Parts: sequence; C-alpha cells; structure tokens
Amino acid sequence: MAKYLITGGAGFIGSNLADSLLKDDKTTITIVDDLSMGSVANIPDSSRVTFIEHSITDHEFMSSLLIEKRYDYIVLLAAIASVADSVDRPFETHQVNQEANLNIIETLRREKLPFKKLFFSSSAAVYGQLPEMPKREDQAVQPLTQYAVDKYATERAIINYGRLYNMPMVCARFFNVYGPKQNPASPYSGVLSILLDALVNDKPFTFFGDGSQTRDFVFVGDVVNAISGLLHTPMAVNDVYNIANGKQTSLMAVAKQLEQLTGKPLKASFKPERSGDIHDSFADASKINALGFMTHTPLEKGLAQYVASV
Ligand code: UD1
Repeated sequence: MAKYLITGGAGFIGSNLADSLLKDDKTTITIVDDLSMGSVANIPDSSRVTFIEHSITDHEFMSSLLIEKRYDYIVLLAAIASVADSVDRPFETHQVNQEANLNIIETLRREKLPFKKLFFSSSAAVYGQLPEMPKREDQAVQPLTQYAVDKYATERAIINYGRLYNMPMVCARFFNVYGPKQNPASPYSGVLSILLDALVNDKPFTFFGDGSQTRDFVFVGDVVNAISGLLHTPMAVNDVYNIANGKQTSLMAVAKQLEQLTGKPLKASFKPERSGDIHDSFADASKINALGFMTHTPLEKGLAQYVASV
C-alpha cells in the first residue's frame, strides 16, 4: 500500500499523474484542490481516490490532514500556474505558491511525520532572462516575477529543510508542459491549450510579441514519468532537476505545426509582449536523463496526441 497526497490533483498535471499512479493497484490517492483551475471531471473515477475540495492556503486544515493521514508520498502541484497571473495577483501568488507549501514542510518537521518522499514543482521561470542556454540547474537564477520568486523561495526552503532535518524531498523545474487535460478556459492558461482551442473552435488567437519567443515544450506524459521517477528514486533527494524535452521551439513554429495537424488556419493578431514574460527558455535535461527514467516524446508526436484528445 502506498498513500499519496497530490495538491492540485484536479489540475492538468496532477490528474495525469493520478491516472498513472493508479495503474499500481496498491495505490491510494488523496487530492486536495480548490478547483480554481482544475475540475472534478479530471479526477480519476476510482474508489482508491479521495477528493477534498479545499485551498492549501488553509494552514490548519492542511496540517491536520497531514497529521491524521500520514501519507507516504506528498506531491505539491497546487499553484497559481501563470506567470502573467502572478504579476496581476502577487499576494495570492505568494500565499499559494510559497506560504502554503512552507506550512506543509514545517508541519512535517514540527510533527516529525514519517514519509517516503515529497516532490515540489518549481519552474523554469526561476532562470529569468540570463543569456546562458541551455539552462542547467547549477547556473545562476534570476527570478523576475512574483511567480518566479515564490517558486525559487519554496525550492530553496525544501532543499534546506531536507539538508537541515534529513527529510527526503526533491524539486523539479518544469519547462512548458502541454497535453491532454490542459484547461484552455482562462487567458492565463498555458499557450498551447489556448492555441489549440482557438484552432479547433475557430476563435481568434493573440500573439503577445511577434511569436519569436521560444519555449521548451514538454509532453505531460513525460512529466508524469519524471515525477514518478523522482518520487521512487531514493538517490534523487535534496536536489533540483529540470523537467523538459531539451528542444527549443518558437511559438510561431509550434502554431504552424498545430495548424497542419488540425488542418485549420489560425486567426492570429499581435499585441505587445506581456509584462514579466521571458523571451527564451530551453533546458539541458542531462541531469534527470542520467537517472534513467526520463522519456522524451518528440514535439510532433506529443502535439498529435494532444490534438487527438480534444
Ligand atoms: C509556463 C507555465 C508556468 C511554468 C513555466 C515554465 C502556464 C500557464 N504557465 O509559463 O506554469 O512555470 O511555463 O517555463 O502553463 N502567449 C501568447 N498568447 C496567449 C498566451 C500566451 O502569445 O494567448 C505567450 C506568452 O506571452 C509567452 C508564451 O506564450 O511568451 C508562453 O506563455 P505561457 O503558456 O503563459 O507560459 P510561460 O509564461 O512560459
């Protein structure tokens, strides 16, 4: 029996992870999610899943849950996920992306709760606009938005707690994750979900900037394999790993690929760049590759699977 807690488990990445973990029939999962971006429809229909609709910012609630249930694996995915949203809502971002997670690790420390591994999802946003490419985990960081500041602060807190108190914890810097179950409903949604929704439903799409910005687009199935691998690899501890495909693609190029896959033309317009936006992002994934479980779905294949899912 392995007991998992997934915060943000009704969201895009969390629900894909839950689907995958349930393939082991000894797994039970508790999902805590406030449904701000996630949805009940994402949650696997299984008697081994317990869903709690609640915000992780309720510290007393989260502490009591941890003390009472004693999870083996704790996966921290709940977040205000959009960089642009964090620019508009810095306080809420800080409460969700930093304080709530600090409360969780502090509860584990204070109550001396035993657990096998805690995983935290940090972000490529911590690298900022520094020119070195591709990004390696040991390069300098430059957190340029509240989003990046809070992701970096939580990452450091987790690694420091791990070292100071001998707690088994690991962080990963997600690059731009895409794939089935990504919610296009908000202007703050991930760009590929907005792009695909625009193409499929004949809606207009706005490029912020000229479309030359680059991202390292990583398929959600690869991210799920990476999280699961990091949770179950004892030597991956008190450290941070890039989770990426290791390929740099411009937004314009990916838009063209989606046009081809859907057979539809994009109704595109252009606006100035969003404040806090990073122009280029591209990862060196060799650190996680060395652990042996990372998969790299080629972009064409991942996009085709994504298009087929909608
Ligand atoms: C994304 C993730 C963030 C993650 C980070 C890691 C989301 C919402 N954000 O941030 O959680 O930590 O990657 O690298 O999943 N754009 C448009 N038109 C649109 C929407 C976006 O041109 O309608 C542009 C943006 O201005 C940006 C690019 O597309 O230049 C990517 O934007 P977005 O998908 O929001 O991702 P990131 O900011 O890279």
